[in-house]
Amino acid sequence: MRAALFGSWFWLGLGLLLLLAGDSVVVSAKRFLRCELARKLLDQHGFERSLLSNWICLLEHESDLDTSRIATNPNGSRNYGLFQINGRFCQEGRRGGICNAKCEDFLEENLREAATCAKRIQATDGFRHWAGWQRYCRNTQNLPNLKVICGI
Ligand SMILES: *[C@@H]1O[C@H](CO)[C@@H](O)[C@H](O)[C@H]1NC(C)=O
Repeated sequence: MRAALFGSWFWLGLGLLLLLAGDSVVVSAKRFLRCELARKLLDQHGFERSLLSNWICLLEHESDLDTSRIATNPNGSRNYGLFQINGRFCQEGRRGGICNAKCEDFLEENLREAATCAKRIQATDGFRHWAGWQRYCRNTQNLPNLKVICGI
């Protein structure tokens, strides 16, 4: 009886610990599939169809379509999420930076904050802002044909 009681407390405690640990990092991160993401950017976030293959190529090389990706640059700054948005566009813990956003929100499965900021960066700097685009996507022959692959 005592062993059983200990057991249930143990598992309850462990479960609670894992829940808290998971929650404190990111509420809901996600690794997207290519066509799923292309469709979402087009339908829910107002991305231009004509630029979509550039975005998908860029995202595959910047974040591997994973919203939880955080990278540290040689100068010590960090890039956040699917779009690998640099820390000067946001602030940790509260809204701030060029996009007046919370960096942690760039890691969410809900792409609202990240997509808004990324579109703003693209509108001002162009795709060349992203090293992954410069290296792999600048040559249009490398862009995925979303019409053929995804029917978009
Ligand atoms: C640090 O490096 C990143 C990536 O190269 C760049 O976007 C950012 O502007 C740099 N930050 C500073 C403070 O130099």
